[in-house]
Amino acid sequence: MDALRIHGQKTLRGTLQVSGSKNASLPIMAAALLAEGQSTLRRIPGLADVKTLSKVLAHLGVRVEAQGAELTLDATELTTHEAPYELVRTMRASILVLGPLLARHGKARVSLPGGCAIGARPIDQHLKGLRKLGAKIEISHGYVEAHVDGRLQGATVIFDMPTVGGTENLLLAASLAEGTTILENAAREPEVVDLCHTLQKMGAKIQGIGTATLTVEGVETLQPFTHDVVADRIEFGTFLVAGAMLGEELLIQGGVAEHQTFLIDKLRTMGARIEEHPEGIKVWRAQQLHATDVETQPYPGFPTDMQAQLMAAASIADGSSTFSETVFENRFMHVAELGRMGANIRVDGGRAIVRGTPELSGATVMATDLRASACLVLAALAAEGESVIRRIYHLDRGYEAIEAKLSSVGADVVRFREDS
Ligand code: EPZ
Repeated sequence: MDALRIHGQKTLRGTLQVSGSKNASLPIMAAALLAEGQSTLRRIPGLADVKTLSKVLAHLGVRVEAQGAELTLDATELTTHEAPYELVRTMRASILVLGPLLARHGKARVSLPGGCAIGARPIDQHLKGLRKLGAKIEISHGYVEAHVDGRLQGATVIFDMPTVGGTENLLLAASLAEGTTILENAAREPEVVDLCHTLQKMGAKIQGIGTATLTVEGVETLQPFTHDVVADRIEFGTFLVAGAMLGEELLIQGGVAEHQTFLIDKLRTMGARIEEHPEGIKVWRAQQLHATDVETQPYPGFPTDMQAQLMAAASIADGSSTFSETVFENRFMHVAELGRMGANIRVDGGRAIVRGTPELSGATVMATDLRASACLVLAALAAEGESVIRRIYHLDRGYEAIEAKLSSVGADVVRFREDS
């Protein structure tokens, strides 16, 4: 298994490039299922999750070709409507093939995603919505078995919470349904918006993009598309936090500042200097970071996917910070590992109280999920001495070439195989 060895406290200067978004790439890949012909996706990040979904699509009969950051998907002939457990279990987002398969094929058999480290993450909202559109759905032997007689029918779906995956699955299904679908309390994340733009290129009729009410007028067929995936706002945000902790005119290129307005304001309040320039965003570390309070919320609130990384910064801030996690019920697994590096954090239900310490000390720590891993990388970059971060396969699911990118701006980060 790969691990990272990091010698901390190196100043970060130079230029970092943000890759295409993982969480936008996945639903857009699933959108290719909706049309006959070859779709081209550009700015696709080289990540484990993209490879996993490519395998799921290939299993369904899609011709998949990857060349650098370009992926072509030809879904002219689908050979099966089943996504098996062995492929789905490693990545929950595989459930995004459910809506397109139902819409295009009239039936789908997709393994229920397994448990997840950060929370229970049910898919009841996806199923509720698809049932509203006329799908008959049963759960049998660990599989979602769904079919529809004729086409899906447009309907009004009111989500209990703004679910990103649920909104995406319903958008995908509703685009080929008969009649108008209204999605209320829909997610507004930039990844949902990017999917909407892709569907529009395919010929879908969607109104209210970027708002909590999406109206989809179904069409009979959709066309293949070419699309450049939006920048990964979480990789961008992770680099911003790195800059606030260690940057000296660190230039971050390719990120969309408006997608991280909340975080940028927070980091400024904490003492970092952040400037927008035509060539990108420049970040200078704070002389001394100040404490802050955050509560995670659906977009445009503070993202749950940045909570762990900001906590790394708060752990060396001046004063006491409070982190409230409202989106997932078990997303503080980085806390114990940060503690091994000298952080002083107490968890009380959905809240973590972080008492800043002047310095973290390098240690061997274990990554437990994707964003927790990113938090540990940031902590190790700031810590005194050597850290080893184990189990970084989590990190490889969401950060493209992280060690190469960070090394290029002065960090001392080396990947090695632990068993060697
Ligand atoms: C997406 O997950 C992201 N994943 C997550 O990224 C992200 O943390 C999350 O949205 C929130 O922003 C992808 O886009 C592939 P949700 P998703 O449905 O769609 C509950 C990362 O690190 N819920 O918006 O699965 C759910 O349990 C990650 O890249 C239901 O109860 O998230 C959670 O509490 C991990 N029933 C809340 O809603 C449902 O049917 C939001 O989940 C669906 C969701």
